[in-house]
Amino acid sequence: MKSRGCGVQLRRTKERMGAPLCALRMVRSDEGENNKLDKFVIKGGRRLSGEIEVSGAKNAAVALIPAILLCDEPCVLENVPDISDVSMSLRIMYEMGAKVEMLDPTTVRISAEGLKNFCVPYESARRMRASYYFLGALLGRFCKARVSMPGGCPLGDRPIDQHLKAFSALGAKCNIEHGMVDLFAEKLTGSQIYLDVVSVGATMNAMLAAVRAEGLTVIENAAKEPHIVDLANFLNSMGADIMGAGTDVIKIRGVKHLHGTTYSVVPDQIEAGTFMVAAAATGGDVLVKNVIPKHLEPITSKLRKIGVNVDEYDDSVRVWVDGPLVRTNIKTMPHPGFPTDMQPQMTTLLTLAEGTSIITEGVWEQRFRYVDELRRMGADISVDGKVAVVEGTGKLTGAPVKACDLRAGAALIIAGLAAKGITEIEDIYHIERGYSNLAEKLRQAGADIEKVSTPVATIREAVSG
Ligand code: UD1
Repeated sequence: MKSRGCGVQLRRTKERMGAPLCALRMVRSDEGENNKLDKFVIKGGRRLSGEIEVSGAKNAAVALIPAILLCDEPCVLENVPDISDVSMSLRIMYEMGAKVEMLDPTTVRISAEGLKNFCVPYESARRMRASYYFLGALLGRFCKARVSMPGGCPLGDRPIDQHLKAFSALGAKCNIEHGMVDLFAEKLTGSQIYLDVVSVGATMNAMLAAVRAEGLTVIENAAKEPHIVDLANFLNSMGADIMGAGTDVIKIRGVKHLHGTTYSVVPDQIEAGTFMVAAAATGGDVLVKNVIPKHLEPITSKLRKIGVNVDEYDDSVRVWVDGPLVRTNIKTMPHPGFPTDMQPQMTTLLTLAEGTSIITEGVWEQRFRYVDELRRMGADISVDGKVAVVEGTGKLTGAPVKACDLRAGAALIIAGLAAKGITEIEDIYHIERGYSNLAEKLRQAGADIEKVSTPVATIREAVSG
């Protein structure tokens, strides 16, 4: 038996045709607590070289999975990343009554045929931000939804007012009580939706709810991230009529029926960017494979400014260093600006560059909480609100540190790989929400990184002793 994160286990069974299948089943366990005791131990200072393969995008997969609720036929998703946010999305689908089968470690077949349940319970939804996509998908299918307020990385205030604004525009009544979001509509009718802020989640949720609404929906001031285009492509492959995804005006002509499809999740540009920065931070030479170079342009262009070489090929990029790293300034912005989800990794790289760099966070209120941990490793960074000033010291030293969120964890991994000595990273369950087989992939490129699990019993003994 092979187990995946967040309590979903895969059981190998036989398909009628004789091909192997993996069927999901739920495990009632203390998996969350187990996870919390795991850590990464990194012996730093090794130059990364060789090839690293990027998985499917987390932020696409967590929307595509609930999107399957919109159709009554089986759908097959390929290039699905093996991360705990995906396991959680699959678990929610399963708990709601969908049939979920893993055909291989990165391919899942899901059927929501005959599904009647429109409620996502608190215990599942609270664990990840992306559970809000069940709101749009369930509303689109049943004209009603009941989902717990979402959880996710602590990056500051994370309202969902724009999601609710979109649902209301389509004719839904929205109510939040006792931690649950309730949506109800007699019927959904296409409408003009102007988003007051550029929001990835609100754009995708509006698309999910509008795809089967009667008439035309126009989303203005829409987000333009690659995963938005991926959701549109996926829904269109199911028979939806969506135009303009990837621009700031998306037009959706509602259709009555969506059919089953087979679709491959877009490569994860943030995972790719993380490996690119890891290669640069270790003075390495790495071919990052299974990417769409166009999606990496904001990252590639900053890396080049810092003195890193990036060669682009059809579906891979080679990142290599042959000189000193130099300072730059970065401001994070919605796509096609520099992605906020690459800010902690890039800040870490700039601690190794010559000169003073200024990083301005333009999306989230609190995205510098990891800086305290980097300081423990010798970084010289001062933070004032949404601005960080990095004095490049050219070196970091290994230390025990804690990941406070997903990308903060990725930044500490990069710091550990580049640092002199040993770094132990705790709370890696944050990292495992979004990076598939991270230690294994880095080891293939020459990193000395181990995942160390401490048995629960050992901890209990230590505490009671
Ligand atoms: C998504 C990503 C996250 C990334 C972020 C920005 C997923 C699962 N997560 O998060 O990794 O960091 O995009 O690229 O895809 N806002 C409002 N009202 C709303 C919604 C958002 O004011 O109703 C604000 C937020 O507070 C934030 C900004 O809009 O300041 C952007 O948020 P948004 O794009 O919605 O982020 P998420 O979709 O939650």
